[in-house]
Amino acid sequence: MRDSARRTPMLSETDAMSRRLADLPPVHSDSLLALIALANADPRPDKIDVGVGVFRDGQGNTPILKVIKEAEQRLRDSQETKAYLGSAGDKRFAELLRPILLGRHADDDRIAGVQTPGGCGALRLGFELIAAANPSARVLIGTPSWPNHAPIVESVGLEVVDYPYYERGQGIIRFDEMIAALRSARPGDVPLLHGCCHNPTGADLDEAQWAEVMKVVVERGLLPLVDIAYQGFGRGLDDDAAGLRGILDACDEVVVAQSCDKNFSVYRDRVGCLYVKTGKPETTATAMAHVFQMAREMWSMPPDHGAAAVRIVLDDPELKQRWHGELDAMRDRINGVRARIAAADPRLAYIGRQFGMFSMLPLSREQVHQLRDEHGIYMADSGRFNVVGMSDVAVDRFTAAVVDALGN
Ligand code: LMR
Repeated sequence: MRDSARRTPMLSETDAMSRRLADLPPVHSDSLLALIALANADPRPDKIDVGVGVFRDGQGNTPILKVIKEAEQRLRDSQETKAYLGSAGDKRFAELLRPILLGRHADDDRIAGVQTPGGCGALRLGFELIAAANPSARVLIGTPSWPNHAPIVESVGLEVVDYPYYERGQGIIRFDEMIAALRSARPGDVPLLHGCCHNPTGADLDEAQWAEVMKVVVERGLLPLVDIAYQGFGRGLDDDAAGLRGILDACDEVVVAQSCDKNFSVYRDRVGCLYVKTGKPETTATAMAHVFQMAREMWSMPPDHGAAAVRIVLDDPELKQRWHGELDAMRDRINGVRARIAAADPRLAYIGRQFGMFSMLPLSREQVHQLRDEHGIYMADSGRFNVVGMSDVAVDRFTAAVVDALGN
């Protein structure tokens, strides 16, 4: 954390700037964002964009949820000011999310939450906090992971240590290697755990595996950070949070990066939350004072609109009930498309056993590019694809092209 009494050097004490903006090196932009642009630019009307992680319905659209539309209308009718809310953002929003995310831990006063700009903002803020508390912590990331995880960790100056998480050929978790990596970690190191619907593999830890992870995390004195951006897209709201809640049972210190962007379908509004647990309410209050100061330095205050709409939904029992229905329908589509793909070829059967929007195909980069060139199918170079990126009518064409690419 920055020292509030730090002294800023006088201009006469500084060296003249020797480098210019024009000296900046080139940047390799995030491949997922580049993929959106590539797919958008393809004029073929039957192209299939299974790149970025955005839910699409059977017709291939990403509609605004009906409950969000209604909440936005209410917001429009009732909001009387857009004056600042402060660095904590919409406090009621963070409160209303607690039972959904934390379940039996909702009333634990050692856990505090703050609204953030999406799950990405929560991750950045969470890692800023960890880096301030323990700059020598190493962050353990199972590979593959979301391509933005490592850059976020490195941007706060923490070291990333990779370990193997997933075997792409067989579609299985390399659990022994994961456990061995956690066992070799130093106290204070930070395992980055995907709460559910693992991005990019769809391969979630089962109950026994979570229990083993919790045991090692406690034995080694690690500080887990749980990233949970797809709650409700796998098995249901409670089942998808079971691993996180077990971690909260087991550990005194936990950081949770949450996102509503997917389960409320408010992607561009950037709606997320950071929850921090320490051993005592007083130490959590101190940690949160750091969090508010860091948020102030990065974005000052989170954007209000999306969080306000989610808050209105969660604050109204009838709207909340209808949200459950809309969320169930999204999950049913995900699992329905998974079942169709899995049934098409024994080599794709594992896709039916995985969860959430993503799975990976055991295709080379060249094969992925060939699918793009020959069939207008856009997926990440890693073979990650969004199972609900395609409309219902496109599923058979997608599957046939993939089976063809896999060969005999
Ligand atoms: C994804 O993985 O496609 C989404 O989380 C979108 C993103 O920001 O990368």
